[in-house]
Amino acid sequence: MPDKFYLTTPIYYVNARPHIGHAYTTVAADTLARQQRLLGADTYFLTGTDEHGQKIGRSAAAAGVEPQQFADEVSGSFQALWKRMGISYDQFIRTTDAKHKRGVQKLFADLYAKGEIYLSSYTGQYCVSEEMFVEGPPGTIGPDGRPTETVTEENFFFRLSVYQKQLIDLIESNQLAIQPEARKNEVLSFLRGDLNSGAETSLSDTGAQYVPGALKDLSVSRTSFDWGIPVPEPAASATTQKHVIYVWLDALANYMTAIGYGGDTAEDAEMFARLWPADLHFVGKEIVRFHCVYWPAFLLAAGLPLPKKIVAHGWLLFEESKMSKSRGNIVRAETILNAFGSLKPDAPKREQDLFGADVLRYFLLREIPFGQDGSFSFDALLARYNSDLANGYGNLVSRTLSMIAQNFDGGIPESGLSTELTGVITDVMGTVRAGIGSQEFTVAVQAAAALIGATDGYLTANAPWKLAKDPAQRDGLATVLRTAAKSIRIVTALLYPVLPYSTAQVWQQLGLGSIERAAEGGELRDLTHGGFAAGSRIGTLAPIFPRADKELITQMNEAEQKPAPAQPDDQPEQKLAPISDSTEAVPESSPASEAAPAVAKPDTPEITIDDFLKVDLRVARVLVAERIPKADKLLRLEVDLGYEKRQILAGIAQFYEPEKLVGRKVAIVANLAPRKMRGLESQGMIVAASVGDGNPALVSFLEDIEIGARLR
Ligand code: MSP
Repeated sequence: MPDKFYLTTPIYYVNARPHIGHAYTTVAADTLARQQRLLGADTYFLTGTDEHGQKIGRSAAAAGVEPQQFADEVSGSFQALWKRMGISYDQFIRTTDAKHKRGVQKLFADLYAKGEIYLSSYTGQYCVSEEMFVEGPPGTIGPDGRPTETVTEENFFFRLSVYQKQLIDLIESNQLAIQPEARKNEVLSFLRGDLNSGAETSLSDTGAQYVPGALKDLSVSRTSFDWGIPVPEPAASATTQKHVIYVWLDALANYMTAIGYGGDTAEDAEMFARLWPADLHFVGKEIVRFHCVYWPAFLLAAGLPLPKKIVAHGWLLFEESKMSKSRGNIVRAETILNAFGSLKPDAPKREQDLFGADVLRYFLLREIPFGQDGSFSFDALLARYNSDLANGYGNLVSRTLSMIAQNFDGGIPESGLSTELTGVITDVMGTVRAGIGSQEFTVAVQAAAALIGATDGYLTANAPWKLAKDPAQRDGLATVLRTAAKSIRIVTALLYPVLPYSTAQVWQQLGLGSIERAAEGGELRDLTHGGFAAGSRIGTLAPIFPRADKELITQMNEAEQKPAPAQPDDQPEQKLAPISDSTEAVPESSPASEAAPAVAKPDTPEITIDDFLKVDLRVARVLVAERIPKADKLLRLEVDLGYEKRQILAGIAQFYEPEKLVGRKVAIVANLAPRKMRGLESQGMIVAASVGDGNPALVSFLEDIEIGARLR
């Protein structure tokens, strides 16, 4: 029996269409899955969408559609993108699938039956966009940078506090492995509590100190909205209110419900027994606590085995902050597929997409050390493509194979091999395989690039073009070209998990047939064996990585400023009215829904006058307004509040000429925490009205009003 390897991505929220941040995790998982498969592991790769909870409910209301329809459309856009990118998942789970709901209810009912879940009442702070409870007084700033909402609810609670010591020990001993180390330490210090608070500490079994009681029980149901999985019987009858299961308990369970947990057939049981526990959960760093504290605690309580490893990567940053729709700094994968796909104008659309996906995969895995934050830019993408793929790998393949075509009539020369590259090949094989295997993708891809460089150097040093001119050097020429071809074969096999489409093309050109078949047949496993049989001939040659010029950067920038272009095979995206992932219920208009009323009735929760008065709205006069170099959307304003002057950055550059704003009175949020954009601090926010992403209208005053006056 081959080893099994079960790996997962987070299931993505359906409040907004995918961007390259989501693609990052999915590409990493796909790369590892491909390598595991070719190494012969019985691999199962799961991804999907997280569709319940208040955040999705509100986004649906903002778009004026039923949550299920909304979820169907956005989930469809994730599936369509993964299809375009050739992601090789084995299953796409949706938390609105019947089998998932059944499994979650089973888990909840089991925990309730075991006394691990109990009913109590709770008043606390809730951060809707992160779907999490936060400690602190009303108005506490949540992890999303916005004030939390106060909720008072009768809730079911999970006895999380009981697991503090056990979790510390499991993590300390690496039975629950967390990578990188920095995340592991972060989780451990959360679990241990504040050791410097003067509180009495105890020792865990591994000898680590902790503050008993630092881990609080967790609320695992909600009553204030109903877009979720209902709490099942008998718990449901214990209360008069309708409870839905907390979205994180619902979501985390996907890793088991997808593979048969809660099912009633023999196949379900067999699949669950075969695949669980997961070998690896890939997550972004912001959801480490859910995966490394809550999830293992639920499993311990249910008496189920824990996942073996959780690997957290950093964030893709764009314009210096985390790429996310609510910040308006996202880049769509489609933009990159379209732009790089256009380098192959004669290829079928499907191949253009897969080629573009390879370029994105290569960049993400090569450029950003996994675990750290990394900046994305179109310039860097193009530069990396040209240097490593067009000039590096592509050029090596093309010069080697065209010399074989010219000098040996397309037959791989039969000759001895030079040993010059043997050492580097052996090292690189080990480093690439181990690098991908331990999720150090940068190290792996760098090693492959080093082999490409070494082979290039070998060609330059041996100058086969000179040897070709001298019939007496025919054997030497044969050796050089065969050695280079062998090295290309190896680097191509090693890079297959990273560049599945392009390596398949190279494999064909090497005359080796289908690389997928080679992967399935185990030929890529041990690369020291096999290779070119006697009489091997190269395939048809064609450029693999055409050079990209700067024009492509303009093309991508333009695409990002326009609404997402219609994709023929992306139907769900087109049907979709614009969707915001901000948690405010801001209805949006779209060209597709021109006839419909622009603004749907919002379902914003009621607040008290005290809540409202926390927002300090003031009249200010614009003193200076100017564009910010390379930030097409932002204006830098200096405003006078009467009692002080402020710098404010406003995303209105496409709608207002800066000169026309000078002298104008505007309304600003004066007590907003400052934040940095483009390296500049914005000390407040200008208030404007808009319908969705439509043109904003700055708030202005018909009567004369002094600057500094408060709006209320
Ligand atoms: N639905 C939860 C996860 C539940 S898992 C049981 C969720 N969804 S999410 O849509 O917000 O996706 C979060 C994940 O998407 C991150 O953990 C990360 O894997 C990926 N990313 C989203 N934006 C990203 C960046 N800007 N950079 C890197 N990864 C990002 O949280």
